[in-house]
Amino acid sequence: MKRITIAIDGFSSCGKSTMAKSLARKIGYTYIDSGAMYRAVTLYCLDKGIIAPDGNIDETRLRDCLGKLYISFIPNRLTGSPDTYLDGVNVEEDIRQMRVSSQVSRISAIPFVREALVRQQQSMGKNKGVVMDGRDIGTTVFPDAELKIFVTADAQTRAMRRYNELKAKGDKANFDDILHNVIERDRIDQTRKVSPLRKADDAITLDNSNMSVKQQDEWLIEQYRKAAAEDNDRKD
Ligand code: DC
Repeated sequence: MKRITIAIDGFSSCGKSTMAKSLARKIGYTYIDSGAMYRAVTLYCLDKGIIAPDGNIDETRLRDCLGKLYISFIPNRLTGSPDTYLDGVNVEEDIRQMRVSSQVSRISAIPFVREALVRQQQSMGKNKGVVMDGRDIGTTVFPDAELKIFVTADAQTRAMRRYNELKAKGDKANFDDILHNVIERDRIDQTRKVSPLRKADDAITLDNSNMSVKQQDEWLIEQYRKAAAEDNDRKD
């Protein structure tokens, strides 16, 4: 079977990465979490004071630093999933903190940040055989992807999933803060000028509000089988 490109887009905290990782593992593809790349840049900005305590973003400094930042993914033997590295340091835990979540939509709305990361993402997927999740993968990064999925779930469900995830890790979590963050990120992601979150015309919608992880995994593998078979037929 020829390798294809799989783009999984959708709202924040709707389980995209769980399903994308699981699919990639089953079919032997590389999983790339494009959101982790925007988060890594945001973490860098917070740690280096490029985002000031008053929230101001020093775009001139960010532009200067961006070309020198090295983001990579290295498989974690314990979890079986790739961890995010920033300049050789594992930042997988740090990029999931609320201080990063609450600033990442602003950083990812900056056009030159998007241009730089989209270029890297396209290069990571140039040989196909990737499952990439994000907001603009099917519309901008890989508009020719053979399989495009658009995932959605209602905001309350998504906030509750995120709350449970943070609690399970032992983090302090406040449900109302998380719900507010989910709604605010939806708003910024959908209304930004460059590559706003939207469903590609040829994407298949999955509303997983009432689906178990197992059900959505089964649904996704079925979509993969169909898309890969169609691609095979087309090229034969
Ligand atoms: O998937 P996530 O919640 O970890 O993504 C973090 C943020 O990055 C999200 O608020 C929107 C942004 N993002 C983006 O703009 N484009 C992508 N391809 C992936 C994420």
